[in-house]
Amino acid sequence: MIKVITYGTYDMLHYGHIRLLERAKALGDYLIVGVTSDDYDKTRGKINLQQSLMERVEAVKAIGIADEIIVEEYEGQKIDDIRRYQVDIFTVGSDWEGKFDYLNEYCKVVYLPRTEGVSSSEIRAEKRKLKIGTIGGKGLCSKFKREMQFVNGVEYQECGNDFKNVDAVYIATHPERHYADVKRALELGKHVICESPIALKVGECRELLNLAHEKGLILTDAIKTAYSTAYSRLLVVAKSGRIGDIISVDSVCTSLSDNVYDENVDLSRKQNSICAWGPTAMLPIFQLLGTEYRSSNIITQIIDSNINFDGYTKIDFVYDKAVASARVAKAAKAEGELVITGTKGYIYVPAPWWKTDYFEIRFENPADNKRYFYQLDGEGIRYEIVAFAKSVESGRDNFYINNSISSEISKTIEKYNSNDYIEI
Ligand code: CTP
Repeated sequence: MIKVITYGTYDMLHYGHIRLLERAKALGDYLIVGVTSDDYDKTRGKINLQQSLMERVEAVKAIGIADEIIVEEYEGQKIDDIRRYQVDIFTVGSDWEGKFDYLNEYCKVVYLPRTEGVSSSEIRAEKRKLKIGTIGGKGLCSKFKREMQFVNGVEYQECGNDFKNVDAVYIATHPERHYADVKRALELGKHVICESPIALKVGECRELLNLAHEKGLILTDAIKTAYSTAYSRLLVVAKSGRIGDIISVDSVCTSLSDNVYDENVDLSRKQNSICAWGPTAMLPIFQLLGTEYRSSNIITQIIDSNINFDGYTKIDFVYDKAVASARVAKAAKAEGELVITGTKGYIYVPAPWWKTDYFEIRFENPADNKRYFYQLDGEGIRYEIVAFAKSVESGRDNFYINNSISSEISKTIEKYNSNDYIEI
């Protein structure tokens, strides 16, 4: 029996794929099709697939040509598969000509002529692009704009304060202006992705979320960390019970880059520590322990009381069976790590944890420790844009940051702004 293997993404399956599979099958008696996983595709730069891995696998299965379907998850897997399945022929389309000659050592390599005039990229490109405009701080906006170039299906469009000519807007203005800016955008019928917090008061945040819902628009917090693969996996591992019950979540986010002690720096134009870092630091706490805590306590050091500018803030949360702390600073430096303490072990994410591609699970016996590595492109902003575009397209809120988390972030910041804290 001659075994043939071929690999592909098979996004929005088209006749080019079907013709390739038919010819691949005809090369032998048994055809194995490797469908690339979403994570592996990310590492190959394909980050805006229209279909999930399961949908793509189902589509390949439905054609009925493949005898077996496997998932391709890592670099170098092809050699492992060829050995494992005792493959005789490896084949792909001629767009890969020469790229897989190294497999000749393990089996025969055949390049089949690619079908002219059709590709998944073209099908994706034909769809109308989502036009996104940006308003606010130059640094954040230009980063967002740059990352948009890596995502197909979206395009940058200049927009004035009236948000003309765009479908959606990224808002990175001063947090004090978020409520008004988001409201205006929603009232004009635009989808919104806003730097967190969406509003400085929980009532306002809920009002905006309701307004978006009533108008059938997407409103989401832009917290890039939520979209990084390592961070998403870490949540799954923590919730799976691998480290036992979660007893404590401790996150630290600090930066000194704004030089807040410099006399020439106008602090009123800068975000204070709790607004700049609080949402990111609170994210793993609320995602792992929920938003139903018993009490919260804020301890802060204010460096300009006229504008309530904090240099260092620690927020403690007490849950029924766990505790958590978020420590944030723009006028102090500490190790920016995330530690999730469990009854059997802990998860450690080294600094800067909010843009990590790596984490570890550590146990009493170091021999049981496990390290996890993932790809992180564009600090997660790229994936954030992909998720936002998908939400807009499907009309469904994204599941990365839910509404109760957005509201809880605003609630904590409101508590701080109403001076409900202990000052040191
Ligand atoms: N293929 C083909 N003819 C086409 C398109 C794809 O023979 N017109 C082959 C590819 O050479 C590959 C397999 O189908 O062996 C799966 O390709 P895949 O990369 O999933 O599809 P593309 O349409 O090329 O996707 P993209 O545009 O995203 O690169």
